[in-house]
Amino acid sequence: MPGPDRYVLFGHPVSHSWSPFIHGLFARQLGHEIDYQLMDVAPPRFRAVVLEFFASGGRGANVTVPHKLAAAELANDMTERARRAEAVNTLAMREGNSLLGDNTDGAGLVADLIGNLGVQLSGRSLLLLGAGGAVRGVLAPLLAEGPARVMIANRTVSRASQLAGAFADLGAITAGSFGDSGRNSWDIVINATSAGLSGQAPDLPDAAIHPETVCYDMSYSRTDTPFQRWAATRGVVRTHQGWGMLVEQAAEAYLLWRGVRPDTGAVRAALARL
Ligand code: ATR
Repeated sequence: MPGPDRYVLFGHPVSHSWSPFIHGLFARQLGHEIDYQLMDVAPPRFRAVVLEFFASGGRGANVTVPHKLAAAELANDMTERARRAEAVNTLAMREGNSLLGDNTDGAGLVADLIGNLGVQLSGRSLLLLGAGGAVRGVLAPLLAEGPARVMIANRTVSRASQLAGAFADLGAITAGSFGDSGRNSWDIVINATSAGLSGQAPDLPDAAIHPETVCYDMSYSRTDTPFQRWAATRGVVRTHQGWGMLVEQAAEAYLLWRGVRPDTGAVRAALARL
């Protein structure tokens, strides 16, 4: 008798990942039996290990740093949102042994903002901080919600300009420095820089925010992030971090793999209680 369907997370490192916990709860909720493992794979071995996993019957994989670009190169076919992101965070085996690459990060962020936090994007002004893969991964789904105004602000302005140009067909986007972003204040500010990893908040002018601005940090931790603290000390009432996005992007992956989107409420609550 075949064992449970097998799924993995490929990354380097992966030991800190919450994905086995999240997918384990999804499966239990739905009465599914799945086997979800972490696989720490160094970049030179990524391609061979992924192909071996799927050749031996693996059903699906999540992909994280530093393999998202390599996964895009490996996939036989990609969803439009993954093509736009130029990065794949979810792989699924399809009929005819075709490997489909998807990117669920943006859908996860949008689901968290709109569905969980009640933050509408349509008609609102949106400031994105950063111009790396994290921003590229979420831009198309954010723009699809029809924000009135979008700016990408980055320490290195040329990277922001490049990204704004690459997505110009999906909506009006401007680019600039953090300083430029303070010419007016924003309804929603999303931090997608990695500044928090070194304990810093992006160097934003106070004029970019007002007390009703929703400040969302895509990173997550057990305590408030530096960006959250920066915003809160300036009177911002609503600051959030990316736990909800993490769970929602996982639910989107689960949907791709198994055709049903788990309810995320219980999992988000479980993570909040830990
Ligand atoms: P990721 O895939 O996480 O987006 P990345 O491509 O390395 O990773 O991008 C990291 C982002 O965080 C970049 O926008 C980077 O700014 P630069 O393009 O100027 O390098 C930004 N970043 C990192 N440290 C930062 C800091 N201390 N202050 C502000 N921005 C920072």
